[in-house]
Amino acid sequence: MTLEPRRLVITIDGPAGSGKSTVSKILAKRLGYIYVDTGAMYRAVAVLARDSGEPNPLDEPLLEAICSELDLRFVSKNGEPRLLANGRDGTEEIRKPEISSLASAVSAREVVRERLSDIQRSMGAAGGVVLEGRDMGTVVFPDADIKFFLDAGPDIRSQRRYLELEAKGEKVAPAEVHQQMLERDRNDRNRPLAPLKAAADAIVVDSSNLKIEEVVQLMLDHIGAKREAHSVMVGEND
Ligand code: DC
Repeated sequence: MTLEPRRLVITIDGPAGSGKSTVSKILAKRLGYIYVDTGAMYRAVAVLARDSGEPNPLDEPLLEAICSELDLRFVSKNGEPRLLANGRDGTEEIRKPEISSLASAVSAREVVRERLSDIQRSMGAAGGVVLEGRDMGTVVFPDADIKFFLDAGPDIRSQRRYLELEAKGEKVAPAEVHQQMLERDRNDRNRPLAPLKAAADAIVVDSSNLKIEEVVQLMLDHIGAKREAHSVMVGEND
């Protein structure tokens, strides 16, 4: 009989550019957990809506049809997660700047939120998972074992996003990135359904003046304490 840490459900919510993706990926790798990027799923729905041929990508029957046939899977390639939407790899396409605003708009729609929340719950059901998004700790996994809300000042967040896009060769102006990010934040925070906010029991981390490794370490300290408290007995009874 051995005592092993239970595989936890860890949620990381926060606005764009707060460092969620970088930190969530590292945490999942270190813990041997599955990493679920829920923003990528909203982005995938936005790409499907844009490419549907329907002039209005926010048309309700269109979004209903997309959601009813939706098949989303994360696969790992060279250690990096890739998202297959209805069998097609959309990993690069979903990161285009013009998809960010459309993803935010489709994410305000009930039919989309319900479908994606169901998929996310099934992905996290067995535990051993780090889920990042906007409503992971508030709506999708209100009973998560440990919840983080990662934040940073708006100037720092838009600077990070700009550098990220520039590194990918996207031609964007810093002021435009800043403007779009603030607008998207406003939409995500003020929508009636599952708005971006910290869960009452979330650990709030401001990453403005912290290095990535410092954020990761701080989170691992919290997680370590929780894992020990939740250890389970495994093996044969003698
Ligand atoms: O994390 P991201 O920037 O890739 O997310 C894209 C959009 O998807 C974001 O503007 C809001 C929406 N989103 C959401 O509403 N709920 C989530 N759990 C994740 C993302």
